[in-house]
Amino acid sequence: MTDEKNEKKIPRHLAIILDGNGRWAKKRNLPRLMGHRAGLRKLEDMVRLVKREGIRYFSVYAFSTENWNRPLMEVTGLMRLFAYYLRRKVEEVKAEGARIRFCGRRDRIPEDLLKQMKWAEEHTKDEKILDFILCINYGGRAEIIDAVNSLIASKPNQPVTEDDLRKHFYLPDVPDPDLIIRTSGELRLSNFWLWESAYSEYYFTDIHWPDFGENELKKALADYAGRERRYGGLKS
Ligand code: IPE
Ligand code: IPE
Ligand code: MG
Repeated sequence: MTDEKNEKKIPRHLAIILDGNGRWAKKRNLPRLMGHRAGLRKLEDMVRLVKREGIRYFSVYAFSTENWNRPLMEVTGLMRLFAYYLRRKVEEVKAEGARIRFCGRRDRIPEDLLKQMKWAEEHTKDEKILDFILCINYGGRAEIIDAVNSLIASKPNQPVTEDDLRKHFYLPDVPDPDLIIRTSGELRLSNFWLWESAYSEYYFTDIHWPDFGENELKKALADYAGRERRYGGLKS
């Protein structure tokens, strides 16, 4: 599995479903928001590690369209944490050569966070080593619906192709995720990259997101390197 050839098989786009912040906090008798804080902190290290592995696109699922259904205090706290993290960490991320991008609906996002998001995007737009994509207020179904509506507005009454639709996704230039990691034990997508994950490889671990580290990342990447992707064709 780890022969020389396979070791070079690096995902171009790595996606992570950051799950388990709440359980991490609960285990320590801490409020859930402390778990979210620890989770965001972990993300800083991960950008560096991912870049070191030679990954070109790194997307993280940080807040889903369904996460608005959580108690208002948790939602508000999370939005504040996102804004705080951006304010404090954009320079560091930029210094790594990473371009920060956001993926999701922009409605419902508090003004202060929206401002930070726009600034982060603008400030890092020329970085080319890594695209660091934060999926906030993202839902795969919402993305497909938004793309369909935008497509029928631009091409009324005409048959469309997969490529036509793809051009209307939130980030059409970003390649589909090669590997999707989900932490904390749940075996589901929870509405992440629905269309784009058609041929993604999956890796699940019981580790809660704030405990996910370099070793775990290496384990996931080694596992990926040993997989054979066939896309419905025959063995090469
Ligand atoms: C993931 O952690 C972060 C978000 C969904 C915002 P959770 O908050 O879902 O943590 P658990 O699943 O309750 O442990
Ligand atoms: C998925 O986690 C969304 C994010 C990690 C942002 P959830 O904790 O919201 O998913 P479910 O509710 O367990 O499916
Ligand atoms: Mg969860």
